[in-house]
Amino acid sequence: MLKSRNLIQPEDFSIEEIDEILNLAEDIMKDPSAYSRVCEGKLMATLFYEPSTRTRLSFEAAMKRLGGEIIGFSEPNSSSVSKGESLGDTIRVVSGYVDLIVMRHPIAGAANEAIQYTTVPFINAGDGGNQHPTQTLTDLLTIKSLKGTLHNHTIGLCGDLKYGRTVHSLVKAMNRYEDNKFVFIAPEELKMPEYVKEGIKNYSYCETTHLDEALSNLDLLYMTRVQGERFSNKDEYERLKDTYILDKEKMKNAKEDMLVLHPLPRVNEISTDIDNDDRAVYFKQAVYGMYVRMALIIKLLGVDIKK
Ligand code: NCD
Repeated sequence: MLKSRNLIQPEDFSIEEIDEILNLAEDIMKDPSAYSRVCEGKLMATLFYEPSTRTRLSFEAAMKRLGGEIIGFSEPNSSSVSKGESLGDTIRVVSGYVDLIVMRHPIAGAANEAIQYTTVPFINAGDGGNQHPTQTLTDLLTIKSLKGTLHNHTIGLCGDLKYGRTVHSLVKAMNRYEDNKFVFIAPEELKMPEYVKEGIKNYSYCETTHLDEALSNLDLLYMTRVQGERFSNKDEYERLKDTYILDKEKMKNAKEDMLVLHPLPRVNEISTDIDNDDRAVYFKQAVYGMYVRMALIIKLLGVDIKK
């Protein structure tokens, strides 16, 4: 059993619990059909107050591949939110219908508010620019499966480190393993927030505005989209959105075994000309996302997996 019934941020689970989830995901990947009925009779709600493709569909695919059912909305205007219902009331009501709630919300901190009202396990599928722990489980599974370990990596994180919730969660998570170093690559305006940097062990990070210079030292490069929807000044977004574009030319300076990750959706920050480079693993990463969510659902529901 997991110590927490809810997943708001990566630290809600111990390293051992995260290992259990990743190991289970690897088992599921080896033989998905063996798990195809373990969640029969269970119902999950996906409440998406903000657009999503991968996260919502991978959660829904995960539950269906376990034999469970889903209800929910992907367009808050089609729910009672449009009539002015509070988040707390929605969560209270939905808790009475389902066994598990997955929520994405545009406001940072909304997930913490929601868990005051839920009576069933709750998963934060992204709260504003704050945290995105299931993307992090996806990233951890990708790194562990393709690199063999979660320790001892030099990890470049590039792009919108200010508003990118995926990088906030990933740094918090990778910081718990031994000997990882971080290189934060961002324009001045989109630097990694202090509160994330403050938690980093032994200050094992550096910051730069130059992707070119940083590239050759990296074991992993995590590219991100500039989060246009979080800018109050659209001109600033236009000016910054194409600051970094990873292409074939730049990849010549990268290690032969460096992996390129991206939570997707990609806009211009990775040129399609590297999609066929073996080091570009972002589409594989999306597939890992479904399997790790299958494992997470099983663990949070505490279902019996004697197959
Ligand atoms: C990310 C998100 O929603 O934060 N996408 C995702 O979940 N795969 C990244 C992004 O939107 O840029």
